[in-house]
Amino acid sequence: MKNTATSWLGLELRNPVIAASSGLTEHLPGLTDLEKNGVGAVVLKSLFEEEILLDIDNQMKQMASDSFIYPETVEFYEQDERIREHAMQYLDLIRSAKKELSVPVIASINCVTAENWIYFPREIELAGADALELNVFILPTDTRRTAQESESVYFDIVQQVCKLVKIPLALKISPYFTNLISFADQISGMGIQGMVLFNRSYNPDIDIEKLEITSAGVLSTPADIYNSLRWIAILSSRLKCDLAASSGIHDGKALIKQILAGAKAVQIASAIYKNGPGIITKMLEELSEWAQQKKFDSIEQFRGMLSQSKTGNPAAYERVQFMKYFRGYHPSAMPPDYI
Ligand SMILES: Cc1cc2nc3c(=O)[nH]c(=O)nc-3n(C[C@H](O)[C@H](O)[C@H](O)COP(=O)(O)O)c2cc1C
Repeated sequence: MKNTATSWLGLELRNPVIAASSGLTEHLPGLTDLEKNGVGAVVLKSLFEEEILLDIDNQMKQMASDSFIYPETVEFYEQDERIREHAMQYLDLIRSAKKELSVPVIASINCVTAENWIYFPREIELAGADALELNVFILPTDTRRTAQESESVYFDIVQQVCKLVKIPLALKISPYFTNLISFADQISGMGIQGMVLFNRSYNPDIDIEKLEITSAGVLSTPADIYNSLRWIAILSSRLKCDLAASSGIHDGKALIKQILAGAKAVQIASAIYKNGPGIITKMLEELSEWAQQKKFDSIEQFRGMLSQSKTGNPAAYERVQFMKYFRGYHPSAMPPDYI
């Protein structure tokens, strides 16, 4: 297949493999390397709202307790300066990436409120980013807070940012919603151009020897693809915006599956961490060879072919219990990922 072009958020991409936001997209040399290896677009490492707020908090506490300065002054002066300094470095990265790269450069903000950082999307737009991805992840742990209250934060953020910028917006979410389909439907109609399913969360683990909390593996495995594959297939023909898949896409086959399910693009990080950026070229070769064998000339010819609305077996995506499989299950009959 000669033509691997696709569109994402209204941007023209030479192919559907996007370098996901991570440490790999934090500095210019890494970004140019990704472009050389064929990536269709890059999402810069997120600027974390919490990170900024934490810095400010610590600084304020320290200065106030040392009686150097009145807390109000910290709030009105130093706080702004700190934010400014952090933000400037990010804007510089956008500017230099736009200068050096020819693929689209998507900025990313990781946020949990619609508050202090809200001035920043406009700065991102002015710095020249082609689009902005909002990475919102709220893990509800307050028993008094309803699902609706938690979800309202996402609506507030999207509503506010949509008012501030003209560049396309994507929302990257986790799968942890009470009613994902209804949430996705509502938010896709609020002015965003795309949704990314799903982010990879930090997971705690327990060391039973040291009796300590540790961190679970940071990188995904190929078995992590299935939740996003299911939801891309279910949502791709129902939403008013584009969908990109993320999580567990490690080879060309996984890329093809997500496009067949209806994704316009995929965002990968772990596969690059594990194999280096050369994996992008391999995935694209696999995509082209497969498309040639199947006699497809373009992505659009097969995108969504196996989405829930187009497959002859829509129930397959809704089946969550193993009723049928439990009866005849034998380990050797199942693919290794299921064991
Ligand atoms: C080391 C590392 C750092 C990441 N940092 C960010 C980040 O800053 N912002 C973000 O939206 N996602 C971040 N992610 C999530 C990735 O962008 C991606 O969505 C996720 O890892 C799933 O894709 P994968 O299975 O290909 O790794 C990070 C992932 C990894 C592994």
